[in-house]
Amino acid sequence: MSPIDSLDNLALVERRRRVLGSGLRQFYEFPFHPVRGEGVWLYDAAGRAYLDAYNNVPHVGHCHPRVVEALARQAARVNTNTRYLHEGIVAYAEQLVATMPPGLDTCLFTCTGSEANDLAWRLATAATGGTGAIATQHAYHGNSTAVIALDGASPPEVSGPWVARIPAPRYPAGGAWGEGEATGAAWGAAMAAAIETLRQRGHRPAAFYFCSLFATDGLFVPPAGFLDDALARLRAASGLAIADEVQPGLGRIGTHLWGFQALGVVPDIVTMGKPMGNGHPIGVVVARREIVDAFFRRQRYFNTFAGNPVSAAAGLAVLEVLRREELQANAQRVGEQLKRDLQAMAARHALVGEIRGAGLFLGVELLLDPAARRPATAEARRVLNELCRQGVLVGLTGPGANILKIRPPLVFDAANAAQLVTTLDRVLSAEPGTSPAAA
Ligand SMILES: Cc1ncc(COP(=O)(O)O)c(C=O)c1O
Repeated sequence: MSPIDSLDNLALVERRRRVLGSGLRQFYEFPFHPVRGEGVWLYDAAGRAYLDAYNNVPHVGHCHPRVVEALARQAARVNTNTRYLHEGIVAYAEQLVATMPPGLDTCLFTCTGSEANDLAWRLATAATGGTGAIATQHAYHGNSTAVIALDGASPPEVSGPWVARIPAPRYPAGGAWGEGEATGAAWGAAMAAAIETLRQRGHRPAAFYFCSLFATDGLFVPPAGFLDDALARLRAASGLAIADEVQPGLGRIGTHLWGFQALGVVPDIVTMGKPMGNGHPIGVVVARREIVDAFFRRQRYFNTFAGNPVSAAAGLAVLEVLRREELQANAQRVGEQLKRDLQAMAARHALVGEIRGAGLFLGVELLLDPAARRPATAEARRVLNELCRQGVLVGLTGPGANILKIRPPLVFDAANAAQLVTTLDRVLSAEPGTSPAAA
């Protein structure tokens, strides 16, 4: 029995099943039970270290001492809410707004990315009077009743006629599903078709939600300007553009702080989540003032925990560490080298298709038949599990769950990247039934 399958872990799995049910799946086919984290490392109870190449919530590193200290200090002083004055809340909002394009000037706080996208929906419908939403084919924007309807995986009874879909941009090569349009003009026409679909169902668009890296659609990085035609058509139909920065945001893509900046667009609303508090639950909506004012004229919003002084302290500490440790530049430098090394490795394995993404958000696409672009779904899951057994954590993404998702804390360095590539190379070499590509 390996430490992973220890009797303690198996007993905990059983206790978990009894009180949490069976619906909450675990990440790996065996129990994974980290008990401590530091930087890019997670440690299990036996003291074994795992290189975390997956988790974006501990954005500046697991348990970063500056963030822990800021949290503890504020928790020991006072914790209130946004209806009381507090310097930290205002300072955090000021710092976030300062990173935005002119006009995106007003912050509302939430506790999660789902709440942020849900609130963005309320803002968009209030400001436009529209009732329809447009989302990409395999989007995920959270778990509230409104935004789970946008989830590409939701059944029709959970989604609804008020949601129309547009394929993610097919760029650079299209991914396993061959969906999407390869030019901005064609993608604009797809947006027009989605608007027309809504019209036929009796809805005018309130908003189009997009992840700036199209992560759950399979990680696409269209060039700046690609979205322009589509957004012009959206706005002509009175819809607002909502950039979901929950995954790509806060310096991860390296070249820019926010993903939408790389696309060269200015959204009407920006939503944030996962990495903002380095593990402390912080979500944010930033919108233009008139959108927020239109909302508050007829509705109210209060969130007991969101934007409290402890959360603000965590958020401010994350921004400070990001700047002081130059982690955006690190994401660009390490991410670019990692992408090159993964591309070189890909040439040695027939199973590997494209290497996609930007900065420290990369995808390694596994394909059974590169010509037919058939997703290697079972193989990707085997590789994910074997990587964990060999001490490296990655995830899976894309509609075929065939893209290894590499999205580590931004303190990931060149040695960490080399360990990831060496281990992945070894795991792929042992993958049954796949012949190595000609060297
Ligand atoms: C792009 C995106 N938006 C929103 C969410 C929802 O965030 P949360 O789980 O914090 O509610 C997620 C979570 O995975 C996400 O990936």
